Order: sequence, then C-alpha cells, then structure tokens
Amino acid sequence: MENQNYDALRAHFNSFDASKLRGSVGENSAISYAAYVLDRIAPPKGSLMLDVGCGDGLIMRAMLVLRPDLHIDGIELAPKLTERAKTNNPQSKIFCGNIMEMDLTNIPKNIIIFFHLVFCNIFLLKI
Ligand SMILES: C[S@@+](CC[C@H](N)C(=O)[O-])C[C@H]1O[C@@H](n2cnc3c(N)ncnc32)[C@H](O)[C@@H]1O
Repeated sequence: MENQNYDALRAHFNSFDASKLRGSVGENSAISYAAYVLDRIAPPKGSLMLDVGCGDGLIMRAMLVLRPDLHIDGIELAPKLTERAKTNNPQSKIFCGNIMEMDLTNIPKNIIIFFHLVFCNIFLLKI
C-alpha cells in the first residue's frame, strides 16, 4: 500500500463517526470484548501493552477497567481519534502516527520503548 493510501485512510478515520468504529458494538460491549481478549492473552500482572490502531481508545479503557494493574499505550493514525483516545485514557501515552512509517532506529538512547504485548483490533497492514 502506498503512502497516499494511508493519507486516504487517515482522512477516512479522521472524519469517521467514532460511535460506528466497532460497528454495532457500543461502549458497553467494549467491556465484553476486552474481557474476551484479556481472557485469551492473559497478560501477566503489570504488563506494558501497546494498542496499535487504538481508535477512540474505548477498548483500551475497558481493558484498564478490568485490569487496572496493566499499562496500555496506543498508536492511532487519525488525529481526531487520537485526541479522543487521549481523553478516554489520560493515564496512557497515545501517539499519533502511522505504525508502518515509524522510525524506531532513531530514538534517543535515553528513551526506552518496551512492551510485553502488542495487540490490535482491525488494523490495515502493508505486506
Ligand atoms: C476499525 S478501527 C478500530 C479502532 C479500535 N481498535 C477499536 O477496536 O475500537 C481501526 C483503527 O486503526 C487505525 N489505523 C489503521 N491503520 C493504521 C496505521 N497504519 N497506523 C496507526 N493506526 C492505524 C485507524 O485510523 C482506525 O482508527
């Protein structure tokens, strides 16, 4: 997928009605979905996790309600959804950007980016 496709994707999700992000699955069901995922990945106590394409951050928030011992940060392509995710998860770091274009080789040596688990719910990948 070329960069222009990510531009289109960013524009699409930037103007997206956030309540439709999970189709017919509303905020209450985010808890059920979070419980389903947590049950399967069983993150050890205190795990540091990254939600790729976190959208409005409601899935992250639901996971943190169920497992307050976890720390979950997020990456989101669309600036508007990034702002929503920050509001929904004030304790988390939410990065705005394209995961496929992030240069992880140029990070200052005093900054350590480390996660035990990386997860995503419907994310478009360039392969
Ligand atoms: C279908 S939505 C799901 C949002 C959220 N995970 C949820 O379950 O509610 C997919 C999200 O992935 C984001 N996304 C897609 N490609 C991305 C990329 N290359 N880098 C970062 N975010 C991306 C989109 O902007 C969108 O918000």
